[in-house]
Amino acid sequence: SIVYLNGDFMPAEQAKISPMDRGFLFGDGIYEVIPSYNGRFVGFAPHIARLQDGLAQLSIDPALNLADWQAICKQLLADNAGDNLAVYIQVSRGTDSKRNHAFPANIKATVFAYAFAIAPEPVADKSKATTYNVVTGQDLRWQRCHIKSTSLLGNVLHYQQGYASGAQEILLFDSNGNLTEGAAVNVFVVKNGVIATPPLSNKLLPGITRLLLLTILRKHSSITIEERDISEQDVFAADEIWLTSSSKEIAPVLKVNEHTVGTGEVGDVWLAAQKLFSRHKY
Ligand code: PDD
Repeated sequence: SIVYLNGDFMPAEQAKISPMDRGFLFGDGIYEVIPSYNGRFVGFAPHIARLQDGLAQLSIDPALNLADWQAICKQLLADNAGDNLAVYIQVSRGTDSKRNHAFPANIKATVFAYAFAIAPEPVADKSKATTYNVVTGQDLRWQRCHIKSTSLLGNVLHYQQGYASGAQEILLFDSNGNLTEGAAVNVFVVKNGVIATPPLSNKLLPGITRLLLLTILRKHSSITIEERDISEQDVFAADEIWLTSSSKEIAPVLKVNEHTVGTGEVGDVWLAAQKLFSRHKY
């Protein structure tokens, strides 16, 4: 495959980054994953806005604007085979000659991006939905989960915790017992036709799928949406639970621990939401 590294496109085997890079030594960087189907990106501008935002919070400046990112990502789609490709972007603070926690002066950010194949576009069809079983756990990550940091060990350990229990994701609860998110997804619950999702804070990633879904539903439906605290009790009482992420779009959850969600089947509100999402996401 062809990848982008620090201004150049090259075969993946030729892309080299120093072990002294702070991305490797400290996880000192920001990443982004942007999906595309048949050459069209979903949520490109908000994905780049979140990237720029995270970089600004870390005082990393790769000196690339929206148009620059657009050119890089379009080129990766052109240079790599496949109809359904996501672009992974990682920007680290850069490479220093010594290991030192303090931000070094005068180093250049390392910018890497590559395209990888993803599953075909999710469709609004109950019989074709990819469904998930999840477990629950206490959220033991750091208190800056709104930053899409490459320091993903907390998320990796939680994901593995779910996987080791035979589940495909984990619903995390903070020390007050409120739902935050999953290891790599945002979470929605539906009760009596009302959709709820945790409000944005330092405890969860501001997901772009979450943003697009909320925007689309508010514009194109009359479904009531609440951004509010969600307890474990709310989760177990829910008629429907959904996981959202760039690759999954809206994915129904059918089991939480040993508990069956709602009727145990993909829900009607999911169908309505995925239909609207599919129609209006671009
Ligand atoms: N995961 N929360 C976390 C912790 C995530 O890692 C992700 C995305 C999301 C959903 O965000 P979005 O809708 O912008 O994809 C929520 C990415 C895809 C990943 O790490 O591969």
